[in-house]
Amino acid sequence: MLSFLEASDTSIDDVGAHLKKMVEIGIALSAEKNIDTLFDMIVEEARALAMADSGTLYILDRDRNVLSFKILQNNSLGLHLKRTENAEILLPDVDLYHGESPNYENASSFAALQGKILNIPDVYASTTFDFTGPMKYDSVTGYRSQSMLVIPMKNHENEVIGVLQLLNAQEVESGRVVPFGDRCVSLVEALASQAAVALTNRQLIQEIKKLFYSFIETIAGAIDEKSPNTGDHIKRVVKITMALAMAVNESNQGLFKEHFFDDEEMEELRLSAWMHDVGKITTPEYVMDKSTRLESKFDRIHLIETRFSLIAEIVEKQYLEKQVKLLQSRETSSDIFLELEKARKENLSSIHEDLAFIKTCHRAEFVNDKMIHRLNKIAEKQYIVSGKIQPFLDPWELENLSIQKGSLNETERHIIENHATMTLKMLSCLPFPKNLSRVTDFAASHHERLNGTGYPRKLKGDALPLQARIIAIADIFEALSARDRPYRKRMEISHIFEIMGKMKENGHIDPDLFDLFVRSDIGKKVKL
Ligand SMILES: [Fe+2]
Ligand SMILES: [Fe+2]
Repeated sequence: MLSFLEASDTSIDDVGAHLKKMVEIGIALSAEKNIDTLFDMIVEEARALAMADSGTLYILDRDRNVLSFKILQNNSLGLHLKRTENAEILLPDVDLYHGESPNYENASSFAALQGKILNIPDVYASTTFDFTGPMKYDSVTGYRSQSMLVIPMKNHENEVIGVLQLLNAQEVESGRVVPFGDRCVSLVEALASQAAVALTNRQLIQEIKKLFYSFIETIAGAIDEKSPNTGDHIKRVVKITMALAMAVNESNQGLFKEHFFDDEEMEELRLSAWMHDVGKITTPEYVMDKSTRLESKFDRIHLIETRFSLIAEIVEKQYLEKQVKLLQSRETSSDIFLELEKARKENLSSIHEDLAFIKTCHRAEFVNDKMIHRLNKIAEKQYIVSGKIQPFLDPWELENLSIQKGSLNETERHIIENHATMTLKMLSCLPFPKNLSRVTDFAASHHERLNGTGYPRKLKGDALPLQARIIAIADIFEALSARDRPYRKRMEISHIFEIMGKMKENGHIDPDLFDLFVRSDIGKKVKL
């Protein structure tokens, strides 16, 4: 900064105005959050300071050892080109090396490698650098590249992070192209350094954010991986959540007319959806995966099958013993033998029927009172093995077979529900920045119900923010529409809406949000 203060052609007023401008630019650069807008601002402000007709920005890509083209602005040609992600590259990147040798023929590459400013009065007269590229460009466009200022952008650690290239300085009054003056070199150098710091900060924030998201997505992937039955549940909940939030944003009528989630709020919601089931990391797999009533760490139905074979054998043995006794007592009445045989058959068939019934209950979606009554009757039956009296079904088996809906008993249901408490506990420990401060609330409330009968905190009504209600609907819809449940076929969307419609009537989910969900056809749009 001192060099231009000392310049003889600079009045105190000029210096004051420049300083003021530099401070303003510095503040604006550090306040800008969008990196593409930041690129634009840098070139625009540099061109304005130096009165340059054209400006190009390259950012150093250390992995590829190139200067990666970002922005080109050319006033005379009315050009404003930028490289966007996945878009065609409009200007070629500049190689920093040819094989092992540094690329000193290219002015930008030289400036980046040497960290030196280049001020070239006329590129056509230069014998030091190769300007055949710009000259070729000129021959196509009719432009005349003349004065050039190439400034390496150095950050707070004096590392070059990019190169700013300005072309054709113009005289204020005449518009004539002139070489870049010393004063303007100092100004642009100062700006480039402010810009480099702002860019480095933005890049660091982006990298940390990227790392954080990758970490969260890895955890979510691991949780989804824990249960083959739930597949990509979290990933799909994120998709549905964001689609419903978009529908809220696009809704220009009714209740959601006034609601609009800005970019930061969308980010906060997206992260909340990614983390909503993070507590499942503590849920044992055998409970998460329990798809049939008798499944525990192993499937107890096989134990029951073996037991019933044993019971059948014991019964057979008892009848054989009875037959032997009758023969020994020289019983001759055939009726007695026939009766005994009939009783044997009936007894064995009753055992087989009991087992078949148990198997049905084991996999049934619903078990009604009548079925539970029959299970109790079976459990009351006994057999004797090694002199010990044993029940046909033990209390654990009876309890689990008698589960009316689904496959979880009370204890297991409690273990499953505990994942929401764990989500709350785990996320409460994370020091979220201000813009993500509500992630814990949104994520941990996805099993709450509007009427206060949900879990873990039994929140109700206004205590449930719109974002939590969105995740709740996404979570229910995903669970009901999931393809892969061993005990249940994939439901038709009309059936899912019927079930969710009842949830709406019972005050479980937000009715207006659910109506918007149905109206917006999100179920089909997200392609589950
Ligand atoms: Fe959950
Ligand atoms: Fe979930």
